Amino acid sequence: MRNLLFIAVVLACIAPAHAQRSIDFAEAAAPDGALIAGVADVADLSAIKRVIGPEAGDALARAVETAGFDAARGATAQLLTGAARFGEIHLIGLGEDEMRARDWEDFGGRAGGLARSSKAEAVYVLAPGADAEDLADAAMGAALGQYSFDLYKSDASPVEGALTFVSDEAGAAGARYDGVERHLADAVIWARNMQSEPANVLYPEEFVRRARAGFQGVADVSITVLNRRQMERLGMGALLGVAQGSVRPPQLLVVRYNGGAAGAAPVVFAGKGITFDSGGISLKSNSGMWLMKSDMTGAAAVTAAVMSLAKSRAPVNVVAVAPLVENMPDGGAQRPGDVVKTMSGLTVEIRSTDAEGRLVLSDAVWYAQEEFKPRLLVHVATLTGSVARALSDEYAGLFARDDSIAARLTAAGDEAGEDLWRLPLHPNHDRQLVSPIADIKNSDAGSPGASIGAAFIGHFVKEQTPWAGLDIAGVDWREEALPTVPVGASGFGVRLLDRLAREGAE
Ligand code: BES
Ligand code: MN
Ligand code: ZN
Repeated sequence: MRNLLFIAVVLACIAPAHAQRSIDFAEAAAPDGALIAGVADVADLSAIKRVIGPEAGDALARAVETAGFDAARGATAQLLTGAARFGEIHLIGLGEDEMRARDWEDFGGRAGGLARSSKAEAVYVLAPGADAEDLADAAMGAALGQYSFDLYKSDASPVEGALTFVSDEAGAAGARYDGVERHLADAVIWARNMQSEPANVLYPEEFVRRARAGFQGVADVSITVLNRRQMERLGMGALLGVAQGSVRPPQLLVVRYNGGAAGAAPVVFAGKGITFDSGGISLKSNSGMWLMKSDMTGAAAVTAAVMSLAKSRAPVNVVAVAPLVENMPDGGAQRPGDVVKTMSGLTVEIRSTDAEGRLVLSDAVWYAQEEFKPRLLVHVATLTGSVARALSDEYAGLFARDDSIAARLTAAGDEAGEDLWRLPLHPNHDRQLVSPIADIKNSDAGSPGASIGAAFIGHFVKEQTPWAGLDIAGVDWREEALPTVPVGASGFGVRLLDRLAREGAE
């Protein structure tokens, strides 16, 4: 009986928990199912007519006119034709302007969203004018747009059937998608699942287990995990100070992928991995505290970006460093006023135990520089409520000392559909961090909260290290859907970091 139970539990863990339509490519549509078609010009429905036939095509043209559908980009119309072949047809406007990769993704995302709510077993997508690469982008958008996290819904109905992109270019598009975009979409979804998992399920050691499972069998990857004792030996007093209030032991996860030249300096991504942020002794109020289960989004994003790069065999050397800690207020917790010594040697006065992200990252970025001498270091963190108030869901905050590095990240974000807005790092911010008792303090420093948070981490980044920081509090969790990002966990950062690392290789 015990054995049986064990098998059942294992099955529950490996079963595809989030049923989604599989993404496919074909040269023709089978004779039934739902059809989703992109339309650039209502006067030209020839691509659809080729699939549904001339008679149904004429009826469709009349219906389009009646519905007042104008093919503006993003406009949608649903037509229930009652016909035997394609009884359910959705049109999505492509508009007149040139379609960029982002636009094909959005088109696919809208198709994915529509496919999710369709009852039809087979769903076909037509993307007139799309070449193989555009189709792969649209397919990635569809994979991302149909996402939902329903693992704990007892009545979640399993979605069967596929979402098939129909095109003469199906072969090339499928090959392209399988090589690159499929891995990227999977990585974003992996990160979203990690964000969505409750903190009673996902704590530091479980994060590590899932990372190991995610990289199972992937070539040229090595995973190292530091435990509390090893971190003590390295003198990571800031990270350990945060960990001290939780019964869950901290972990420092390091994932290296060496797909580039042997010995070439890697790009290093450091991601904040607070598996739950209660605030610690500086306890948060209950309003919205549940969302602090996703305070590990930075860690998930950096891990997932390396996953995507490694699975698609990108020719780069890249490392993800993730300090994984639960910030809790038990009897052993650190207090406001405590002083800790970081791995760098700098001492920190704790003014708020709720400014914990900068503490765990200070040791993580120091370790990253000592260990890897990065070609570029980027930290990614849900660091401050301040950045969310300033930039909302639209942009993540970008910090950099160097204008050209800032420009590179902004461009990567623009191409990836993950927008950044640069905020200042000013010498005044460093002065505000001076502590009367230690070298610096972690809070109580002044009002530009997002800049102060980044400036704190800057104290642990050597002048000669090329560095940028992303504050993703705000964009990590969407209140309003985008075509490729349903409400909830966004997986923000995965696509941007993936893009950034690839660029360096060219
Ligand atoms: N994890 C929070 C930041 C956060 C807030 C993320 C809202 C997502 C949504 C972070 O650890 C925190 O508590 N920051 C404090 C810093 C302050 C004490 C200096 C904040 O923003 O209030
Ligand atoms: Mn906090
Ligand atoms: Zn936090």
